[in-house]
Amino acid sequence: MNNKIIIANWKTYLSVFESEEIVREVLKFVKKQKDMPELVFCPTFTAIPSVAKIIGGSGKMKLGAQNMNWRDRGPFTGEVSPITLKEFGCEFVILGHSERRVHYHETDLEIHERIKLALEYGLIPVVCVGETAEERRAGRRDEVVRRQVTESLGILDLKGSERIIIAYEPVWAIGSGQAVAADDVESSHMSIRQTIIDNYSESEFNLHFQIIYGGSVDAANLEGFLEKEIVSGVLVGSASSRTESLISIIDGCINY
Ligand code: 13P
Repeated sequence: MNNKIIIANWKTYLSVFESEEIVREVLKFVKKQKDMPELVFCPTFTAIPSVAKIIGGSGKMKLGAQNMNWRDRGPFTGEVSPITLKEFGCEFVILGHSERRVHYHETDLEIHERIKLALEYGLIPVVCVGETAEERRAGRRDEVVRRQVTESLGILDLKGSERIIIAYEPVWAIGSGQAVAADDVESSHMSIRQTIIDNYSESEFNLHFQIIYGGSVDAANLEGFLEKEIVSGVLVGSASSRTESLISIIDGCINY
């Protein structure tokens, strides 16, 4: 059985119409497949309702958002509540993406508040962490990622089937065409796993957490990541925003 995850983060690459087009085309491909990975679309907020209609009860495609507010109701102009994400069937929410951290100055504490609220609403947080090029050059990869994981997760009282996905996305690999080498991805994932075990426990890690990789993933480099057992899947930006390359990635994930 295919138990890997593909999360398509469409950022602000696509209009509503373009988002609908891709989902329709991918749906045709997906309907013919028996052994699908978990496939999650994270469109721009305004495309969520129409993408939700298209994927409908297909069962093979899921929906997520690219962010959400850290409070569900109140005077937060321009923010989006988990209540409205749930109304359209979102199951996932990306939190703490490096583009949010850099351009909108989101802090680990705010990300922690968002994670708590997402879990309260039954959403699966996809928490992004990763070092900058400068931090990597200074040999600080594990230290930076360890701090981000520890501070953004904080101490959560995880229950039942609650699930958190940590996406290791080094800032320098995003949109650069320069993915991290698969062995390097594996060692970062091991370090994230150890951080979570230190802060929680091994059994809690096994019950509640998965780690995926993001940063210039495409159909050509995908296999190297998926072959690593600790890599539960991929978070894909630009290559997921074009029909053919997204279908090649799904196909690659089915056949790796
Ligand atoms: P790219 O795949 O375009 O490098 O983007 C990765 C990313 O930021 C996904 O969240």
